[in-house]
Amino acid sequence: MGYFQPLIFFVLAACPFMFISPSHSSLDHENVKNLPPAKHVGNVNLSLYYETLCPGCAYFITRDLVKVFQTDLYTIVNLRLIPWGNAKIVGGKIRCQHGDDECYLNAVHSCVIHLWPDVKTHFRFIHCTEEQSLEGPVGSKEAMWKNCSDKLGFRGDMINKCYSTGLGMKLLHRYGNETARLIPPHKYVPWVVVNHTPLREDFEKFVKYVCDYYQGDPKPEACPKKSSSVSSTNTKIATEIHPGCYAEQT
Ligand SMILES: *[C@@H]1O[C@H](CO)[C@@H](O)[C@H](O)[C@H]1NC(C)=O
Ligand SMILES: *[C@@H]1O[C@H](CO)[C@@H](O)[C@H](O)[C@H]1NC(C)=O
Ligand SMILES: *[C@@H]1O[C@H](CO)[C@@H](O)[C@H](O)[C@H]1NC(C)=O
Repeated sequence: MGYFQPLIFFVLAACPFMFISPSHSSLDHENVKNLPPAKHVGNVNLSLYYETLCPGCAYFITRDLVKVFQTDLYTIVNLRLIPWGNAKIVGGKIRCQHGDDECYLNAVHSCVIHLWPDVKTHFRFIHCTEEQSLEGPVGSKEAMWKNCSDKLGFRGDMINKCYSTGLGMKLLHRYGNETARLIPPHKYVPWVVVNHTPLREDFEKFVKYVCDYYQGDPKPEACPKKSSSVSSTNTKIATEIHPGCYAEQT
């Protein structure tokens, strides 16, 4: 239990979002497999900068972002997930500011994105672990993702190897560098960028932004017809309380 104590404190301190109750959405894995092929030409870049244990990120991923794969939005979006952890080089080694446990799941996500580069594939793992994280802390580090890898058929030995060889931390550090170079800089997570535009507090309305940016014709079914709104029901309350989890300033 000792391991999770500081972690819980960190989450409570950084993420008041935690107290907004989640509405459960679950990814239909059959649908994911039967998705139409992506068109790529003229696609809109949608990037999510997130922290694995930030409840605001977990809600966004499991409730909102999942729509990309539950609808035909997938056909016009190049989705990238960029996990963030405060990894730095200390004495020649990559370390996390408050100990490596703080970055562990972020490094695991970095590994999974690296090992299964197809976003349809790694999104399933990320969605599953984020959903599990909303259910509360688990007993061991590996328990944070092992059920998901077992259930979804991701090889746990490959994930463990990626982490234990230090590759996961290296990837996370690279993502950290990328996040630090964002213009304008990110202020909190989840931080959603559509093409080069950060959506800031409007992040939950990403569908509308993606559709507006998409120049192709016809637009996907998922796009709002004129004069209808796609805003998530919780947007108002969420932004009034807190737009997300603040990233530590470095
Ligand atoms: C993992 O799965 C086992 C068996 O299905 C279950 O008992 C356990 O609670 C799950 N652990 C988590 C963290 O969800
Ligand atoms: C990240 O940036 C630092 C400082 O600019 C640099 O020393 C380091 O090599 C970079 N690391 C990676 C993995 O890109
Ligand atoms: C989308 O991302 C790709 C790859 O990073 C880049 O080459 C392209 O210019 C981006 N498109 C837009 C509209 O930002």
